[in-house]
Amino acid sequence: MSLTAGGVLAKSTRSGLRIGGMTQTSKPAVLVTGGAGYIGAHTAKALAERGFTPVVYDSLVSGFREAVHWGPFVHGDIRDRVALAEAIETHHVKAAIHFAGLIEVGRSVARPDLFWDVNVGGTTTLLTTLREHGVGRLVFSSSAAVYGQGGRGPLETIGETAEKAPASPYGDTKLAAEWLIQAQCRAYGLSAVALRYFNAAGADPSGMIGEGHEPETHLIPLAIAAALGDGKPLTVFGKDFDTPDGTCLRDYVHVADLADAHVAALERELADGAFEAVNLGAGEGKSVLEVIDAVGAALDRDVPKIVGARRAGDPASLVANPARAAALLGWTPRRSSLARIVEDALRWERAPKYGVGLRGASARRGSLTGP
Ligand SMILES: NC(=O)c1ccc[n+]([C@@H]2O[C@H](COP(=O)([O-])OP(=O)(O)OC[C@H]3O[C@@H](n4cnc5c(N)ncnc54)[C@H](O)[C@@H]3O)[C@@H](O)[C@H]2O)c1
Repeated sequence: MSLTAGGVLAKSTRSGLRIGGMTQTSKPAVLVTGGAGYIGAHTAKALAERGFTPVVYDSLVSGFREAVHWGPFVHGDIRDRVALAEAIETHHVKAAIHFAGLIEVGRSVARPDLFWDVNVGGTTTLLTTLREHGVGRLVFSSSAAVYGQGGRGPLETIGETAEKAPASPYGDTKLAAEWLIQAQCRAYGLSAVALRYFNAAGADPSGMIGEGHEPETHLIPLAIAAALGDGKPLTVFGKDFDTPDGTCLRDYVHVADLADAHVAALERELADGAFEAVNLGAGEGKSVLEVIDAVGAALDRDVPKIVGARRAGDPASLVANPARAAALLGWTPRRSSLARIVEDALRWERAPKYGVGLRGASARRGSLTGP
């Protein structure tokens, strides 16, 4: 099955697309759990631009009501089956994109119970509710955190079949949720795509939405805050990795490119029961120091920094092999040069519409980056 914005559910056959019986007058509704968050809000915009109605379902535990512009908003928790069912029925939902979850790696070490409850328990509840309402297509926010460093050279890219060895309870929950989804595809004919994002970064060029994590744990907003904030230095965690400049390599992908990939995954023909896992990255590693230099160049000033100890479980490099995304989804990143990402992130950080942005620069001097 695939979902098309022409207003119909399309059923795939070997010979191509057959238009299914379930019709809607226009703009099929897509449940976007976590759609008030960073990547979810950008995807809601991309969905609307492709003719879908994004129905944002979010508890606002870390998202922002001000980020919801492109469709109805339902305030609810992913673990609340009754509220989910009501949202699906009220808005005639035909497919779901599941972003809702907890994302801070460090917090997952301290509160693994909470992360399993929300990220895995919440996914179970969502899957049950989708099944009960005949919603047969799901796109899931997975993460490069499902991979470990095992058996891979520091400069090798990661394909989807690489060893799965999450280094944190957060990564464990993303992998467990994938397993749950895959099992339900086999058992009940759900078709699903798990998108394993590498490092989401940047912001929509409109300036309407952007990154508003609290606490912020991602490198680019932290580097901008260090440069423009109160002058407190950014900590570089380890400079003795087996990489060209000794700092970790990560794969930065523009959030608007990620958003496009969700629409492509939704529209992709898939057989009933199919489960696909796809890496989303630019396919190029940038070191922590390269990112800091790019921020410094964009601002024409130094980013104050100190070098600290390595963090536990930080792989030297996490860089996607994005070939499967191109082959399966026809997706290649268009805006993911580091210069473009930094430019768009900077525009947002200078005038955030919600979240702390630069106003809370000193409070945001967080500790962790990671997908
Ligand atoms: N940001 C990245 O670089 C990155 C990388 C890999 C994977 N991911 C995954 O992408 C997804 C979105 O990440 P993000 O960066 O946009 O994070 P975010 O915190 O901005 O968004 C998560 C959203 O989920 C909502 N939410 C959390 N718990 C909920 C619950 N119990 N019920 C309903 N809503 C709830 C939050 O309010 C928030 O709006 C997450 O699942 C995350 O694991 C993110």
